[in-house]
Amino acid sequence: MKNLIDILDLTVEEIDQMITVANDIIDHPENYREACKYKTLATLFFEPSTRTRLSFEAAMLELGGRVIGFSEASSSSAAKGESVADTIAVVSGYADIIAMRHPKEGAPIVALSKATVPIINAGDGGHNHPTQTLTDLITIKREKGHFDNLTVGLCGDLKFGRTVHSLIAAMSRYAGIKFVLISPEELKVPSYVKNAYIKAKGIPYEQTTALENVIDKLDVLYMTRVQRERFFNEEDYLRLKDCYVLTPEKMAMAKKDLIVLHPLPRVNEISVAVDSDPRACYFRQARYGKFIRMALIMKLLEEANK
Ligand code: CP
Repeated sequence: MKNLIDILDLTVEEIDQMITVANDIIDHPENYREACKYKTLATLFFEPSTRTRLSFEAAMLELGGRVIGFSEASSSSAAKGESVADTIAVVSGYADIIAMRHPKEGAPIVALSKATVPIINAGDGGHNHPTQTLTDLITIKREKGHFDNLTVGLCGDLKFGRTVHSLIAAMSRYAGIKFVLISPEELKVPSYVKNAYIKAKGIPYEQTTALENVIDKLDVLYMTRVQRERFFNEEDYLRLKDCYVLTPEKMAMAKKDLIVLHPLPRVNEISVAVDSDPRACYFRQARYGKFIRMALIMKLLEEANK
């Protein structure tokens, strides 16, 4: 049975196929209206979400399937002390596929130990967020047309930003990639990510604290929010929260064909004045997330039925 715990659980070829399917869904949604008829998705969200949970639920409903689940740990029996493993053992009997978000890194691995249906990691703490990466990849493919030979800038909270870790792992598999890592000293990419996906593969990269010094060389700018919920003290968060704000003035220094991505939610790190710039892709990106999740649900259910 295939699961999606880490973006590297999918090959480059599988991701390409899923993007092709998602693009076909965008063009011909009527062909997929009964693709998951009588199948049930459970969305188990132990941590807040707008996009990931609702796009998963919209995805399953648009495939003709059904959805059950909870949107906060406090409304589940986790509040009474039930373990993740027991929750998954039980919900495996109610659903054909499970999308789970949890604040603890590694919780989806625990889930696998008791699951009898496919598990999708919808974000685990500050670790990984593979379905956001699928969303990022379909956006890059649709907006730029290719993955190779791109200079990708990642800006903001690169330490706790799980979307950043998964995106670096995914992009490190394409030829001619360069990374520009833009963060305060305290929020640099963890060494385990840098060592495994950048240094080990000899991928060129630079690290800087100044977005304005590097924005002119980027093909993709991936902005991120400072992850307040992962800080140990509020004082550090308040000091760092507005370290980067993308403004029209900074956009004026960038390439004409730059694309700006953000996993959202946005706090202050992109001025709303940038939203009308055609290079601002983040709301289109959130929309594509539903279609790539439709492709993912279909793929994992197909593999489970083999
Ligand atoms: N990008 C993302 O994971 O958004 P949500 O937290 O709203 O799901």
